[in-house]
Amino acid sequence: MLLSVSNVTVQFGGVTAVADLSLQVDRGELIGIIGPNGAGKTTLMRVISGLVRPTSGSILLNGQDVTGWTIDRRVRSGLALAQQIVKPLATFTLAENVALACGSRRMGSPWQAMTTVNRNAELQRGRELLELVGIAAAADDYPSAVPLGHLKCLELARALALEPELILLDEPLAGLNQAEAAQMADRIASLVTESRSIILIEHNLREVIRICPKLFVQDQGRYLDFGVTEKVMANPKVRTAYLGEGAI
Ligand SMILES: Nc1ncnc2c1ncn2[C@@H]1O[C@H](COP(=O)(O)OP(=O)(O)OP(=O)(O)O)[C@@H](O)[C@H]1O
Ligand SMILES: [Mg+2]
Repeated sequence: MLLSVSNVTVQFGGVTAVADLSLQVDRGELIGIIGPNGAGKTTLMRVISGLVRPTSGSILLNGQDVTGWTIDRRVRSGLALAQQIVKPLATFTLAENVALACGSRRMGSPWQAMTTVNRNAELQRGRELLELVGIAAAADDYPSAVPLGHLKCLELARALALEPELILLDEPLAGLNQAEAAQMADRIASLVTESRSIILIEHNLREVIRICPKLFVQDQGRYLDFGVTEKVMANPKVRTAYLGEGAI
């Protein structure tokens, strides 16, 4: 098992954002996480990445208990997080931004990498990763000169630069039109390999249903369903909690 989340609860003051959730992810899986606003999806992802400490419960990565580990240590053992808010370094080109992410894997920090980046090797790798996510033509552009869709692809390339076994994506399709979202979804699906899994939080149900073989559903912090997408979408409880909002 690549990732095992066991009985995780997160409380913020009086709010229980995540209530006793458990989730298992195997190698090579693409799992969609859905649920209404405020369901605790982002909080669950933050617990997995180490940005938030759970009030109780544990996180195992490759069988190792990482619950008390820092984010950096989790990244070094195979985790990558692409943030909902896209924030590349404005004074570096797209290729340089990816090169810095390659360097940060080696150096442990992007700031150290900035002064010691092995420009040729890492820039070359940066270009390869931009090619993989479909924006090689913009490699020498600055972030301010490219559209949002490109910045989202850049974020994927930066995540890939960490050579992760598990990538966490929080609403990567947000803000894209339907055609762009479909293209981005295809790209995300294409990045899943035998040795690379992806957890995808998405409100774009059409795309998440289309590309994810399995869905995890949460509502108000609690578990609702987990399993094969078709079965989960046929669950009346899921329909009431989620589709009842008129989201599809
Ligand atoms: N840092 C925080 N401090 C206090 N409350 C928080 C914090 N982060 C999240 N919450 C609360 O926890 C609950 C779950 O929020 P979370 O952002 O995880 O939901 P979500 O499923 O990602 O929602 P959305 O679909 O809108 O992104 C909400 O009630 C939210 O207000
Ligand atoms: Mg969220």
